[in-house]
Amino acid sequence: MTLRILKGHIVQTPSFGALDIAENAFLVTENGKTVGIFNALPDRFGDGEIVDCGDRLIMPSFADTHFHAPQYPMLGMGMDLPLLDWLNTYTFKTEYEFKDKDFAREVYKRLAAELIANGTTRVCVFSSLHREATIVLFEEFEKAGLTGYAGKVNMDRNSGELLTETTEESEKETLRWLDEVSDFRRIKPVLTPRFTPTCSDRLMAFLGRLAKERDLPVQSHLSENTSEIAWVRELHPDCSQYWESYAKFGLFNDKTMMAHCVYSDERERKALKDNGVWVSHCPDSNVNLISGTAPVRRMIDDGVKVTLGSDIAGGAQLEMYRVVTAAIRASKIKRIETDWNDAFLTVAEAFWLGTAAAAPFFGAKGGFAAGEPLHAIVVDDASLPPPARRLSVIERFERLPYLMTKDNIVAVYSDGKKVK
Ligand code: GUN
Ligand code: FE
Repeated sequence: MTLRILKGHIVQTPSFGALDIAENAFLVTENGKTVGIFNALPDRFGDGEIVDCGDRLIMPSFADTHFHAPQYPMLGMGMDLPLLDWLNTYTFKTEYEFKDKDFAREVYKRLAAELIANGTTRVCVFSSLHREATIVLFEEFEKAGLTGYAGKVNMDRNSGELLTETTEESEKETLRWLDEVSDFRRIKPVLTPRFTPTCSDRLMAFLGRLAKERDLPVQSHLSENTSEIAWVRELHPDCSQYWESYAKFGLFNDKTMMAHCVYSDERERKALKDNGVWVSHCPDSNVNLISGTAPVRRMIDDGVKVTLGSDIAGGAQLEMYRVVTAAIRASKIKRIETDWNDAFLTVAEAFWLGTAAAAPFFGAKGGFAAGEPLHAIVVDDASLPPPARRLSVIERFERLPYLMTKDNIVAVYSDGKKVK
């Protein structure tokens, strides 16, 4: 039994709108799992190892619920193109390079280190369609201390000459990949039909059956861009809305993470809610690819389970604290667009989106809940602009998403272990 006790200012947003602060308090963990937060340390923990964080902030680490690992090499590129042109001009060519396992290892090692350095410890990530490079992704992410889900991409149509697998190959490689990753402990497989335009009906039906048989999660894209939506309408004239092209194959339930949902109207939002589907809101990407402004606050108010994604490389920042500010800005633009009808996200609400909101998708409780493996960052803000007076902990917390960099993150705990 190992007792480790972090002492400092503990700041968390365990539920939407809540901001819990315990100054100079003790976060007690036993074998990497949170026991509780105490203002004074109870005697029974007296022989634990105390990690004194001084005047620093101890906060939950981030969850990035949607991004594309093989797009990391093209970060910040192709930003003058809308989605479908961007996919055909840059993205598919970049992902094609992951046929090379050694290149994949170099990129994924570096990406994993960057994620941890920036305080992301939970991920739901797309690989490319390459089985071997996907195994490398599992290896490097798990080695770095990341946890969550990663998926070999399935795409058997409309993805150019370079990056097409036949339906048979896609099915066979998926089954083989699932066999090969069965021993990973922290990174688990998620079925990943890229999006409806790149997946035949037969492939979708196969993945839907597989998800059901093996109780696997699913990730994909939904209602990101108007041209994409029009295309899906042509491909599936039987579906009155985009989500139905997933639902009809059993790919739309409470283990499904759908990225974007920029154009999800009331009916589609109801379908998301009624089916328990998770949404990964990707505000940086939605602006970069000129997709639109997602009704993020409306989705939350409607009871949809919303989380946050960097969507690199549609998003150009893997720093989730920056994606938190992008979500705030998107919500404020939506407020302007709706004649001040829709509410905007406060800092605490957006921080919740980037942390605790996603915890249940990963089978956990949000924040520093008792019994949960510790996912935390320790932030030293001493290098930030010095105000004339001493700031409150709330004020210090509120400027972090706007100002902090990875240099301010002095320690990261993932699944109970110190990984930075
Ligand atoms: N839709 C299908 N593929 C992609 C992708 O790689 N990025 C984004 N943002 N949307 C997609
Ligand atoms: Fe994406």
